[in-house]
Formats: sequence, C-alpha cells, structure tokens
Amino acid sequence: MEALPPEADTEPASPELIRDLAALRAKVGAWHGAGEKVAVVPTMGALHEGHLTLLREGKERAERTIVTIFVNPKQFAPTEDLDRYPRDEMGDLAKLATVGADVVYAPPPDDVYAPGFATAVKMEGPALAGLEDKFRPQFFDGVATVVAKLFCRTGADFAMFGEKDYQQLLVVRRMAKDLDIPIEVVGIPTVREADGLAMSSRNRYLTRAERHQAANLPHLLLQAAEKIRAGTEPSRATGAVRRSLTTLGFKVDYVTARNADTLAFPESRHEPLRILAAAWLGATRLIDNVGV
Ligand code: PAJ
Repeated sequence: MEALPPEADTEPASPELIRDLAALRAKVGAWHGAGEKVAVVPTMGALHEGHLTLLREGKERAERTIVTIFVNPKQFAPTEDLDRYPRDEMGDLAKLATVGADVVYAPPPDDVYAPGFATAVKMEGPALAGLEDKFRPQFFDGVATVVAKLFCRTGADFAMFGEKDYQQLLVVRRMAKDLDIPIEVVGIPTVREADGLAMSSRNRYLTRAERHQAANLPHLLLQAAEKIRAGTEPSRATGAVRRSLTTLGFKVDYVTARNADTLAFPESRHEPLRILAAAWLGATRLIDNVGV
C-alpha cells in the first residue's frame, strides 16, 4: 500500500457538525467505551483566538474535543443584544478546522429549551457577588442552566472556561460541584490583542476611536495591580482606575478588588486578589480582570 503523504498525519481534523442529541451521545459513548477522555469548550460562537486557545488547551488534556456553539437566550435580558449577537457558523467551523476538533455541537434553540421547559439552576455564592449579577440579574442563572445542560448532554470529563469571564468561571465551577456533575472545570488565562485589550466577540461593535480607547481598560487594571503589590490599599487603587476611566469617556459599571477564590471583599492585602471591571464605551460593554 502506498504511504500517505506526511501532511495527512499532521493536518488537524475538520470537526463533524452535530445538531442531534442522540447522535452526540452515541459518539461520546463510543469514545468513553474506548477509554478516551473528552474535553468540552462551551461557546456562543463568533469565535476568536481566545476560544481557539481554550480548544488547544482542551486537546492537551483529552483525546477528544467538543466545541459547543449555542447563543443561549436565557442569559440575555430583553434589553440586551440577543438578536444582534454575532452569528457566523461557517466562519466558526473554518476557524476550528485550523486547530482541529472532533465535534461541533450546535443544537437548535427549541431542542435545548423544548416546549414546556420548566427548570432553572438558581445560583447564589459567587453568582451574587455584586459584580456582573448587579448589572445583569438574569445572567448567571441563565448561564448555569445552559452549562449544566451542556455538561449533561456532552458527558465531558473536562470543561474549558476563560478567566476573561472570571465570575462566570467561579459560578460554573460551583454549579458542577453542587450538582455532582463529574467534570473538571479548567480556567484558562485571558487571551489579549497586541495592545492588551481582552479578545471578545463584542469587540467588533466598537468604532475605530472606541477600539483605540478600549486598551486603556487593561492598562489601568495592570497599573492598579502593580500599586496594590507595592502597598497601596486596594480600594484606593481601584478608585483611581474608576476616575481615570470616567475621565477617558468610559461609563463605569464597577472596578473592584476581590478575593480571587470567593469574590468577597478582601480583608487583607495578603490574600489572593483579583481586580475586576466592567465599563461601557459608547454602546459596547467591556469586561476585564487581572490578578494581583
Ligand atoms: P462566549 O462569550 O462565547 O465565551 C466562551 C468561552 O470563551 C468562555 O469560557 C469565555 O470565558 C472564553 N473566552 C472569551 N474570550 C476569551 C479570551 N479573550 N481569552 C480567554 N477565554 C475567553 O461565555 C460564554 O460564551 C457563555 O456564557 C457560555 C459559557 C457559552 C454559556 O452560554
């Protein structure tokens, strides 16, 4: 038999697009039957390098990878951007093919939430820290509900989540533990543009001038982290960030230093801290966070 050309061995696999739950379960059942571990990367599509990094990290941990693409209506308030949230399934599949994934699972909304759907995962603890929850009260119950369903549907062994959405990472970890879902939730550091702006599907909403201005958010957070390490009181350092952002034209929702594990207000400078922020530039809401 003729040998395959060498690149046939090294080219990443184009993912198989699955919309049907029974087909997904059969696939994962076969993998697990063969002793293979599975990593899932839950996303809402409009993929960028941040999502692809989660996939690469998933491939480091498991033989098989699933990327889910589902724009979850339950985590959007009626006033939010559900209808204009960017959707580009073809583009997403092409990007994933450059990295290689086994399956893209993109279920239809009325399959995830069938008529008569009547259950929600209601979160407390890190979901009530007064951060994203204060400005988007429906958000974390919507996220926890869909992520619990995606964990059950995929039966994955590992789930890859970005630190970019730091409160979400802690909420999902808590939910999986509390509901006894046997999955390891892995947090991955934020992937940034060359000027430091955290990659986000929503960055495409920014005008040219706003995009230029946006890099001030991570720079100011890093400066504050530096000041806290040098001895400045966390609330003083974050207050300075709030004032600078406002002067630069941002409308600030919050800038705050919290315990990195619990999101509680810090009691001393010696506990692990995370500075978290959300601010609007025009019609676009940016969130970011850095470790201290
Ligand atoms: P989405 O915003 O598409 O993000 C999917 C995953 O990618 C999340 O874990 C998010 O933290 C991670 N991510 C986004 N930008 C990143 C960046 N710059 N660096 C590293 N990771 C990044 O978050 C959601 O979707 C949804 O709430 C979801 C969990 C899928 C539930 O619907």
